[in-house]
Amino acid sequence: MKNYSTIEKKTKEIYIEQHKNYLKDSSIFKRHLESAQDLDTYDMPAEFFKGKSVLDAGCGNSGYFQVAMYNLGVKHVTCLDIGEDWKPELAKILNQHNIPVDFCNYVSGSTTDLPFANESFDFVASNGVLMHLETVEMAELAINELSRVTRKGGVVYSHIGIDKPGIVDRYIVKALRLAYIEDEEFKQFVDTLDPEGLKSEILEIYKSCAAYDPRLLDLQDEFVSSLFTLDTTTFWQNMLQVPIQQGPLLSEDWGMSAMSNSGLINIRRPKGTYWIRNDFRRFLAPIHYSAFSPIAKLFYGNGHVKLIAEKA
Ligand SMILES: C[S@@+](CC[C@H](N)C(=O)[O-])C[C@H]1O[C@@H](n2cnc3c(N)ncnc32)[C@H](O)[C@@H]1O
Repeated sequence: MKNYSTIEKKTKEIYIEQHKNYLKDSSIFKRHLESAQDLDTYDMPAEFFKGKSVLDAGCGNSGYFQVAMYNLGVKHVTCLDIGEDWKPELAKILNQHNIPVDFCNYVSGSTTDLPFANESFDFVASNGVLMHLETVEMAELAINELSRVTRKGGVVYSHIGIDKPGIVDRYIVKALRLAYIEDEEFKQFVDTLDPEGLKSEILEIYKSCAAYDPRLLDLQDEFVSSLFTLDTTTFWQNMLQVPIQQGPLLSEDWGMSAMSNSGLINIRRPKGTYWIRNDFRRFLAPIHYSAFSPIAKLFYGNGHVKLIAEKA
């Protein structure tokens, strides 16, 4: 593999494994797909996508974005990520969703040094990649690259970082990430998380506690086990294993200014979509979404920043 840093290679390895779960549990794939094909995600009209050429920079092997673009009427998607091993995995999931082979091509490269000529694409997207780069300067370089390869009048969309992070990202996630690094037993627990094992252990705990508090028996086994799924364990691994999470440094203001400096105009934060969750997060999702509520602000700050902009 050429010139990729240890961190980049590690990030890629972790996501290849996690994205394989999108093949195993179609509810994870469906949740991402629904958001990626909802026009509220982009604040663009449906006609914009028809017949366009698209770049997905840092595509991974999740596949939902390619399927969404196909469903929106895009002509072709160039998929770029580090190294080679994500390619057969991405091909597998796209095949499962009946996407024609020639709809996508696969390119190895880094989003900080895109192997394409200036103004090559109509729509350039990069989802959840900048926050895993090693430095803010690299994220800025990546935005310059996304802009450089976009045609005049074309559009750049990026899920950048987290704006004014709340208690969850400033303290809870930070503490758990530290525990993952420092505590070998916790690391082992996270690395080997298995939803079936987790469910049965939690059910046993509930049953034994019901001897003291019979109200616990009112909780149906089915309900307790629905709280922890493959989506849950993938989410925890995703949050804790990845070596860099610089999302809290990549604010809305930072993204707006980086995009503006790279020659993009009409930069805005689309309304976004409501992510329906199936596990315990279905009880947190409303708080996560309702950014106007004081409790939501306290815990989740100003939320994840996804920006869209046009090339001048
Ligand atoms: C959170 S995953 C997102 C994948 C995909 N965009 C999605 O939404 O499912 C982050 C991806 O960024 C890729 N990545 C990390 N550093 C990169 C770089 N310098 N250039 C290109 N891709 C990179 C990783 O390999 C991984 O596939």
